[in-house]
Amino acid sequence: MAKILVTGAAGFIGSHTTDFLLAEGQTVVGVDNLRTGRRENLDSALQSPRFALHLLDVAAPGALAALVAAERPDAIVHLAALVSVQESMANPALNFSLNLHATQLVAEAARVTGVGRVVFASSAAIYGDGAEQPIRESAEKRPVSPYGAAKLASEDLLLGHGACYGFTVRCQRYFNVYGPRQDPASPYSGVISIFARRYGEGKGVTIYGDGRQTRDFVAVRDVARANALAATRPGLVAGSVNICTGRATSLGELAGIFSARHPDVPAPAHAPARPGDIRHSLGDPAAAAAELGFTARTTVAEGLAELIAGSPVSLLS
Ligand SMILES: NC(=O)c1ccc[n+]([C@@H]2O[C@H](COP(=O)([O-])OP(=O)(O)OC[C@H]3O[C@@H](n4cnc5c(N)ncnc54)[C@H](O)[C@@H]3O)[C@@H](O)[C@H]2O)c1
Repeated sequence: MAKILVTGAAGFIGSHTTDFLLAEGQTVVGVDNLRTGRRENLDSALQSPRFALHLLDVAAPGALAALVAAERPDAIVHLAALVSVQESMANPALNFSLNLHATQLVAEAARVTGVGRVVFASSAAIYGDGAEQPIRESAEKRPVSPYGAAKLASEDLLLGHGACYGFTVRCQRYFNVYGPRQDPASPYSGVISIFARRYGEGKGVTIYGDGRQTRDFVAVRDVARANALAATRPGLVAGSVNICTGRATSLGELAGIFSARHPDVPAPAHAPARPGDIRHSLGDPAAAAAELGFTARTTVAEGLAELIAGSPVSLLS
């Protein structure tokens, strides 16, 4: 069994990744400064003797390096970030600090301590608009936000360090992740968490545009499994893969699933399309299957049913 250091452990993806690793029997060192994460997300993890949470800022020089030197993990899963595209546009300097400078500090901690593997939370945002669908990893990268640019630069920074200093870097390009613990209060949150809250409160939703815009929605429990594979699977070499399902779901279909489960909630209202909204985003999952042995298992219908019912996510299934 391995010891994995997870940055952003109290966040949405980080807490599910932590729970998954613990369920597999791994030891997890959690790091978070609770900027957007919540300690409650780790209620279950904190019961485990194989888990500890360290409250620190990964962008503070020396802080993470000292912890990595003390803990000597087998792998680092780096998820901590400024996660909102809109916030990166409003505050590009903070985006640079949290999304690129912090990555440099992770690379440096891995180099100095001899960590064997670094898994990085990249994003479909590195592709920007206009890539041919489904998007393959080799597609041209044209990020259109400071967030996407920092994720792309972070991939290169880590891969270059890994090649030079001898650690394996796995970059995970997540598409639209959804599931329990995603914060619906944030105006930047994913559409599924916003729909789930609105329907749960008996309120209708507004669809901007014709509702035919599509996304590749991947369940957080699948993402957690993909992260665990990237961190622990023996024999992996460096690389970057899409973490997606390869299935497109339109916003209209999404609203239809919610409406069927909440027949009393008013039908969706329609409003004009918002400028800048991407029309389609669909990933090609083949490389993740070939390189990581990862295939998403949860359909949107199953994932939504679980989310709506509030039933516990079964791990390792
Ligand atoms: N949710 C998605 O659909 C999605 C898609 C693509 C990429 N990502 C990436 O996945 C990662 C996790 O995102 P999430 O959706 O779970 O968001 P989240 O906000 O729930 O998690 C991020 C966590 O990082 C922590 N954090 C932020 N800055 C920190 C710092 N300086 N020091 C220590 N901890 C810090 C936050 O408190 C939070 O717990 C991020 O890197 C994000 O960019 C997410």
